[in-house]
Amino acid sequence: METRHRIAVITSGGDAPGMNAALRSVVRGALSRQAEVVGFYTGYDGLINDDSVKLGVHSVSGIINRGGTILHTARSADFLTEPGRAKAYQVLEKHQCTGLIILGGDGSFRGARDLSHEYKFPVIGVPTTIDNDVGGTDYTIGFDTAVNNAILCIDKIRDTAESHERVFVVEVMGRNRGFIAMEAALAGGAEGILVPEIKPDLPALAERLIKGHRRGKTSSIVVVSEGAGGADMSARPGEDELPRSPSVSISYHVADVIAGLTGLEVRVCVLGHIQRGGPPTAFDRSLASRLGAAAVDHLLAGTHDVMVGRQMGKIVITSLDESLKESQALDKKVLDLVERLGR
Ligand code: F6P
Repeated sequence: METRHRIAVITSGGDAPGMNAALRSVVRGALSRQAEVVGFYTGYDGLINDDSVKLGVHSVSGIINRGGTILHTARSADFLTEPGRAKAYQVLEKHQCTGLIILGGDGSFRGARDLSHEYKFPVIGVPTTIDNDVGGTDYTIGFDTAVNNAILCIDKIRDTAESHERVFVVEVMGRNRGFIAMEAALAGGAEGILVPEIKPDLPALAERLIKGHRRGKTSSIVVVSEGAGGADMSARPGEDELPRSPSVSISYHVADVIAGLTGLEVRVCVLGHIQRGGPPTAFDRSLASRLGAAAVDHLLAGTHDVMVGRQMGKIVITSLDESLKESQALDKKVLDLVERLGR
């Protein structure tokens, strides 16, 4: 008799707009192929603690347009340990699951790969993170919405910046990678950008802002990734590295230095988790709908230990190992373009 497939699904790591749309696609994609789906709440923690829900066709009704994740999510510390993964595996066995689909980012994929290597359990990843920092896909689910959320804020900030003739330092998310900053700065018409991948040169930035001001600019926006400036706490503002404290946003240091060097009035706006909330864009919903069902199809076809992604418009798979090795590089030409256009 043919084995009936029962797919386990979790949402893991930071939530991303479009996670619900991807979940809907996994569930309905699987049901349309006569497979069952069991969801586990709060990521790997729900697997370890056996906190499950059977997902039927109506469990995912009305969620394609909702941000967050109805399964809730977490960054599980227990799953990083071998005993934690052993427990999770036992729970998967208990539920007679034949595969696991993880909606998450690179941290979640690392855990998936370890589970798959240790127990030969079939896993497939669907890349969901606003950071866009996963290899094997041009875009991760949630990135487009986060950039659009940031743009809406930047447009509003521009109004007040213009009225008061101020410089605004606008901080966006991205601890290690500057993709959100790059797209938000370009589409928001920013005058400056600081990203984690490039050493900041605040005197040069200040010089550009002063020149723009002299040419008649009445406002300037500098988009800063939260991870800009590296980790060196000892450096003084204005030097190559920016000072860093986990509890103090780097943007306040940037603002102080710019104010000191330019004499202009500077304000800070840290956008924070606003970027991660709200309805996913059409792009994210459509990407999520494609990738969720593709993950199911690959799992049922016997492919595993991979993530599904979209490259040059096509659905592709990449081994989890490969996807973890390297995400795409930030295009330095685009950073230059931001500065050239924001003169
Ligand atoms: O990984 C997504 C992300 O939003 C990062 O951009 C950010 O650095 C981090 O999560 C914030 O995590 P938390 O929600 O746990 O504060």
